[in-house]
Amino acid sequence: MNLAVARGERLGIVGESGCGKSTLALALLGFLRSGGLLLDGSVRFDGADLLRLAPTELQRLRGSRVALVPQNAGQSLNPSMAIGAQVAEILTFHRRLGRSAARERVVELLGQVYLPAPAALVRRYPHELSGGQQQRVAIAMALAGRAPRTCGRPARADAPWCPLPRSLP
Ligand SMILES: Nc1ncnc2c1ncn2[C@@H]1O[C@H](COP(=O)(O)OP(=O)(O)OP(=O)(O)O)[C@@H](O)[C@H]1O
Ligand SMILES: [Mg+2]
Repeated sequence: MNLAVARGERLGIVGESGCGKSTLALALLGFLRSGGLLLDGSVRFDGADLLRLAPTELQRLRGSRVALVPQNAGQSLNPSMAIGAQVAEILTFHRRLGRSAARERVVELLGQVYLPAPAALVRRYPHELSGGQQQRVAIAMALAGRAPRTCGRPARADAPWCPLPRSLP
C-alpha cells in the first residue's frame, strides 16, 4: 500500500470491518500488532523513516508531531489516573510545560473538544465518562502535543466518527 499525505491534506481510509484499517493506522506510528513482523517498507515523515528511528526519537515523535486517536479510546486511557493528569503528562513530556501551565492548558484542550465543565472534568476518571466523552479526551490528547493555535500537524484518527458530536473542529 502506498499513501502520500501533504501538510494540510486529509485522507480517509474506508473499508469493510476487519480489512486492516486499524492495523495500518498503528503501523504508521511503528506499532505492530502481536505476531506482526516488519519485513519491508517505510513511513516517511519530514524526511525521516519513522520505522527506522531510534526508540527514543520515535517516542518523542509519537504524541507530539504525529498522534493517534485510537478506535477504542476507553481502553487506551489509564483507568487509575484522573483525566487531567493523563492529558497533562503529554504537555509536560512533549511540550515541557510546568505543572500549573499544563493544568491551565488541559482545561483549554478539554474545552476545545466540547467537553462540558472542563475545569471539573479534569478530576474525573475514565470510567466516569461516556464512550463519546472518552473519545474526545483521546482527541484532546492528540492535540496536546502541538503548540496552541498552530495547525497542520498530522493526527491519525481511527474510526473517529462513531460517538462524536458533529461540531468538532
Ligand atoms: N492483535 C491482533 N493479532 C492478530 N490479528 C489481529 C489483531 N488485531 C486485529 N487482527 C486481525 O487483523 C485484521 C485487521 O484488523 P483491523 O483491526 O485492522 O481491522 P479494521 O479494518 O480496523 O476493522 P474495523 O472496521 O472493524 O475496526 C482482522 O482480521 C483482525 O482479526
Ligand atoms: Mg478498526
